[in-house]
Amino acid sequence: LKRDSRFKEVTADDVKFFKDLLGSDSAVIDGVTQDASEDLEAFNADWMRKYRGQTKIALKPESTEQVSKIMKYCNDNLLAVNPQGGNTGLVGGSVPVFDEIVINLSRMNKIHTFDDVSGVLVADAGVILQQADDHVGAKSHIFPLDLGAKGSCQIGGNVATNAGGLRLLRYGSMHGNVLGIEAVLPDGTILDDLSMLRKNNTGYDLKQLFIGGEGTIGIITKISILCPQRSQAVNVAYFGLESYEKVQQAFREAKKQLGEILSAFELMDRQSQALYKRASGAKLPLEAEHPFYCLIETSGSNTDHDSEKLNNFLEHVMGEEIVTDGVVAQDETQIHSLWACREGISEAGQHFGGVYKYDLSIPLPQLYDLVNETRERFQNNGLMGDTDDFPVLDVIGYGHMGDSNLHLNVATRRYDKQVEKALEPWVYEWVSKRNGSISAEHGLGLAKKEYIGYSRSETMIKVMKQVKGLFDPVSERCLIVAENW
Ligand code: FAD
Ligand code: MLT
Ligand code: ZN
Repeated sequence: LKRDSRFKEVTADDVKFFKDLLGSDSAVIDGVTQDASEDLEAFNADWMRKYRGQTKIALKPESTEQVSKIMKYCNDNLLAVNPQGGNTGLVGGSVPVFDEIVINLSRMNKIHTFDDVSGVLVADAGVILQQADDHVGAKSHIFPLDLGAKGSCQIGGNVATNAGGLRLLRYGSMHGNVLGIEAVLPDGTILDDLSMLRKNNTGYDLKQLFIGGEGTIGIITKISILCPQRSQAVNVAYFGLESYEKVQQAFREAKKQLGEILSAFELMDRQSQALYKRASGAKLPLEAEHPFYCLIETSGSNTDHDSEKLNNFLEHVMGEEIVTDGVVAQDETQIHSLWACREGISEAGQHFGGVYKYDLSIPLPQLYDLVNETRERFQNNGLMGDTDDFPVLDVIGYGHMGDSNLHLNVATRRYDKQVEKALEPWVYEWVSKRNGSISAEHGLGLAKKEYIGYSRSETMIKVMKQVKGLFDPVSERCLIVAENW
């Protein structure tokens, strides 16, 4: 990658403009920060310590008007920018690649309204997901997205990446739940589409372009989103299974017997659970090891009704030997520790050095074949082993079984080009041949921008570029908002 020389470097005049606008002349990260290299590290480095930019300046605006003025100024002066939420993204999109100005949304963190009759929440993009959920939770509602990074990711970042998470199977994607957005376009125009309507068929639904748009066409500053009623009865079960075939049977049965109360069906292989145990020191819920595990959650409004359904389901899957062993959480604490076995895998994957992450949609019958083939590949190429001489520690597979979404992770002791070469473009070719998607939920970011052709046709890519050009005519190459794509 080469820095596009059309983009200007930040000068003292630019810094003055930002300081005057945001009202801070301190080097501390507040309003404007400049040359505070220690503090800037947090804005430059991503969650996996894999991608690193060299920004000299991170801006933390407090209002849409400030974002608008920043964007207009940057557009007029050809300064490249990179929007940033909670910086939990996993594809290198949240940090600069070169010296792009970081526009960090964390100070735009107000919840504006929540109406518990309609379930509509209106909030700033910088609100942390956990806080949004706590807010609506106090009125018996639930934010329709949950994921392992909920303590630090922002709802604007969730919308910008169209994050999927642990309950998409039940509540659907952001494309269905987000009712409106307010966004600032590259030239500073404020696009007010903060609708609170469930239905609105008046012309193109422009907000959809921002959902999953990864900040390439504008900065989302507010969202309105439909939050469902929070279920009173929540049950979580964790199973051990003998084969991937049995996991598919269990999923089939869960859909059939748990029906409308099924709220999550997650897959974890033995290797992912062993790595989680090793990294966290936690005890696994089942004594014996099993080749596969799944976590099932039910959420409903009537405890007796749900328990009866769940018990029938358990009797069936145990009786038919679909499931080898299992445990059902008896209280909140157990619910959390069962979920931790699933949510803790992301951290475990990178705990021992680095991780190569693939986030893929694959037809269910073939979904786990890729993990087997990847493991074989590393068993045969001399890159995986038990000692420090080998870069690869293990190949793990887990993910959102209910959405046909596999997370294939290659956990390493260090980042190593040889490992990457063994994986790319091989993984993408494998997925493309099966008509899957090379990015099920994390987005393209920098990691996959070169590989988009494995999942989208030339015509589609051309139209995407035209859309980008429409919103951001200044940069032919998709650059002024984020270095992605
Ligand atoms: P960032 O990481 O800061 O940014 C992500 C992208 O969005 C960047 O391209 C950035 O430029 C852009 N962006 C951020 N805010 C805005 C804005 N306001 N306007 C325009 N563009 C913006 N993802 C899933 O889909 N499902 C999961 O289950 C899941 N689990 C995760 C678990 C862990 C432990 C971690 C670390 C990550 C996980 N992720 C998951 C990935 C990540 O958390 C999500 O993509 C999240 O939605 C990113 O939000 P963020 O605020 O951290 O955004
Ligand atoms: C998950 O489902 O845990 C996330 O998408 C993050 C990851 O892939 O590790
Ligand atoms: Zn995921």
